[in-house]
Amino acid sequence: MIETINLTKKYGEFVAVNHLNLHVKTGEIYGFLGPNGAGKTTTIRMLTGLLRPTSGKVLIDGIDMAENPIKAKARIGLIPDTPSVYPKLTGNEFLDFVAAIYEIPSRESRRKIKEILEMLDLLHKANELIETYSHGMKQKIVIAAALLHDPSVLILDEPTVGLDPKSAKLIKDLLKAFAYKGKTVFMSTHILEIAERMCDRVGIIDYGGLIAEGTIEELRKKVGEGEGSLEDLFLKLTGGEDTKDLLKFLEE
Ligand SMILES: Nc1ncnc2c1ncn2[C@@H]1O[C@H](COP(=O)(O)OP(=O)(O)O)[C@@H](O)[C@H]1O
Ligand SMILES: [Mg+2]
Repeated sequence: MIETINLTKKYGEFVAVNHLNLHVKTGEIYGFLGPNGAGKTTTIRMLTGLLRPTSGKVLIDGIDMAENPIKAKARIGLIPDTPSVYPKLTGNEFLDFVAAIYEIPSRESRRKIKEILEMLDLLHKANELIETYSHGMKQKIVIAAALLHDPSVLILDEPTVGLDPKSAKLIKDLLKAFAYKGKTVFMSTHILEIAERMCDRVGIIDYGGLIAEGTIEELRKKVGEGEGSLEDLFLKLTGGEDTKDLLKFLEE
């Protein structure tokens, strides 16, 4: 469960995230949808305790991030927008390292690492240096690292950027399974189609504020007419600004 109360971040005078109130339920896949520069990454960095809010609160499973950061962070698995991996470690070595950070007993971690690598179709690469991995494989090893400590909340920042369709499908299935187990998924994206395909509920953020929230169906109703395409809806909701990515997406 993720809750934010009037979460706000200012960079100097500039308000990047503005009194954001989110309630993401257990068992839910929540899509955080918004154009570039809307404040998605800033929000995610506050949710995960990497960035201190200017004001407001973050609660993870009811635990206050500011008051109890270690306990709150232990609940979270994060897949950042630009993940860093260690190119000179093998997949196994990298995951052993992550397991040690989370203080997972080594017998248990060996079993978990094997299980996760198998699930992500990476077992055949486990003993090769990460620098030899494709972009998609690197992304999958980061996902493996985020799942290792069995988090109850998984947070992903634009996870499908640069993934091939097969890996994207794998991630989608993984998120579904994760939510089905009664866990929480929070995923940012600037691509409508991804939000529609993967998320139970969507919040649309623009200029740092939540401007609409609900299922895609509900959002369609809210702007009137189920007819307009999702692209129209998105443009309408964001005032037609910043259409570059959308147009690029439509052209692909
Ligand atoms: N460290 C920073 N200093 C100043 N402005 C920033 C900083 N990080 C982000 N911003 C600004 O805050 C806004 C939101 O950025 P970001 O959260 O990265 O958006 P998104 O992830 O939705 O594309 C943007 O206008 C961005 O330029
Ligand atoms: Mg971002």
